[in-house]
Amino acid sequence: MKSQIQILKILIIAGLFALNSTTAIHAKQKDKDRWNKKYDTEVYLFGEKPIPFLVDNIHILKKGKALDVAMGEGRNGVYLATQGFDVTGLDISEKGLKKAHALAAKNNVTIKTKVVDLEKAELEPNSYDLILCTYYMDRGLYKKFYDALKPGGMVLVETYNIDYLKYRRFNAKWALEINELLDIFKGMRVLRYQDYDDAREAYSSIIAQKP
Ligand SMILES: C[S@@+](CC[C@H](N)C(=O)[O-])C[C@H]1O[C@@H](n2cnc3c(N)ncnc32)[C@H](O)[C@@H]1O
Repeated sequence: MKSQIQILKILIIAGLFALNSTTAIHAKQKDKDRWNKKYDTEVYLFGEKPIPFLVDNIHILKKGKALDVAMGEGRNGVYLATQGFDVTGLDISEKGLKKAHALAAKNNVTIKTKVVDLEKAELEPNSYDLILCTYYMDRGLYKKFYDALKPGGMVLVETYNIDYLKYRRFNAKWALEINELLDIFKGMRVLRYQDYDDAREAYSSIIAQKP
């Protein structure tokens, strides 16, 4: 009887594990479907132009292999390619990446892309001169950038901060805390940092360099 109860317990725990991972897979499929649906239009939802923080600081970025994490429709990665970077973009949405390739062609450059779920992806260590990530908030992923950079490599991250909640309904857990980027990249040399707020939107941006 005791051993039967033991087996029953093991089966219940195994069942819960299976249920949990199935739920996670469904959640990811939902993200993929949601973003593919959003991107299923000829319009570039985030525009065709790169973010100003990237353009303003292009001269200090280390040229070479660049990884655009959560590339979306490619506005930033394509700009980097026009500036001579060798660009690879990652995203869960194949529709977004297809638009990124179209934008690259329109600008007479080529980029490489890969469809990945960034919640599971491992980044190749010691491989990139630049890792760029804009408007994709994943604190755990940000912490992986350091190892993926070559020595002297740089990160550029920009996303909404807590002040954005003054202007839009937005889940606070996706917003950066005050100075949070400085804390996340504290092992690196900070070359640029800003908290931007124009009374319509508010975000933080950083460029930091691995020693
Ligand atoms: C707000 S958009 C930003 C796109 C781009 N970085 C930009 O600034 O234009 C967020 C992007 O994250 C991607 N994304 C969401 N969940 C993801 C996941 N689990 N793995 C990879 N990409 C994901 C979406 O497909 C979308 O392209």
